[in-house]
Amino acid sequence: MTADRDREVRAVLAFYQEAGVDALLDETPVDRLAQDVASQPVAAPVAAPASRPAPSVRPSIANPLGGAPPSPEAAVMAAREAARAATSLEALREILSRFEGCALRATATQLVFADGNPQSRVMFVGEAPGRDEDLAGLPFVGRSGKLLDRMMTAIGLDRSCAYIANIVPWRPPGNRTPTPQESAICLPFTLRQIELANPDILVCLGGPAAQTLLGIKGGITSIRGRWFRYQSGAREIRALATWHPAYLLRQPLQKRLVWRDFLALKKALEERS
Ligand code: URA
Repeated sequence: MTADRDREVRAVLAFYQEAGVDALLDETPVDRLAQDVASQPVAAPVAAPASRPAPSVRPSIANPLGGAPPSPEAAVMAAREAARAATSLEALREILSRFEGCALRATATQLVFADGNPQSRVMFVGEAPGRDEDLAGLPFVGRSGKLLDRMMTAIGLDRSCAYIANIVPWRPPGNRTPTPQESAICLPFTLRQIELANPDILVCLGGPAAQTLLGIKGGITSIRGRWFRYQSGAREIRALATWHPAYLLRQPLQKRLVWRDFLALKKALEERS
């Protein structure tokens, strides 16, 4: 490869990385530009070399089933109906794993449903899986998960006595924030998951979880550390909003405020035990 070509390739890879691309979808690279040329009418078909497998064709990201994607409203309705049908967490996981209404499913490696003990009195809800979670199939296993574990340990909790999930159970490409539409489509499943896990206390980790679950319009800073009432099915429980561990990794000085929130959580758990 010439030095110029090498520079060009590196620039393209850097661009992809910047844009959030961090995984290859096919084992064999596919030159889409050459494909465009090849798809023009040609005099005779060009056979693929026998030694190289033909590139696999992935389903459309917009609609994994092919055909026209459902409207967001239709996807939300389908999600509500599907979530309502689940009478246990296992059934909910199974239904969700087959749900085709959210396009994130097509780009994620797998469903990231939950971790921890569903019998716990406390449930933590984050935003969406990142790369580590996508690979492991479990929420909060990466750097922010390790910090969450340490924060829980500090108040005597671990994953055997806490239940952990996310608003969106599939990783958004490049770890971007889920769109309002994606969150809305996944929300009926999260609401049902909370209802079926039936915790005494719900902890919203970060603004998106607090906004989605508590219907808060403003930013997390103004509501951090406040207790809310949360209607879980027929039961009213307490909910606390605090900063997301990923934010604390970027702003470690704010840990002291979250420490206060975790002490308040500990006290609330002791009051009702
Ligand atoms: N951030 C989240 O909100 N959830 C995870 O599972 C991991 C990182």
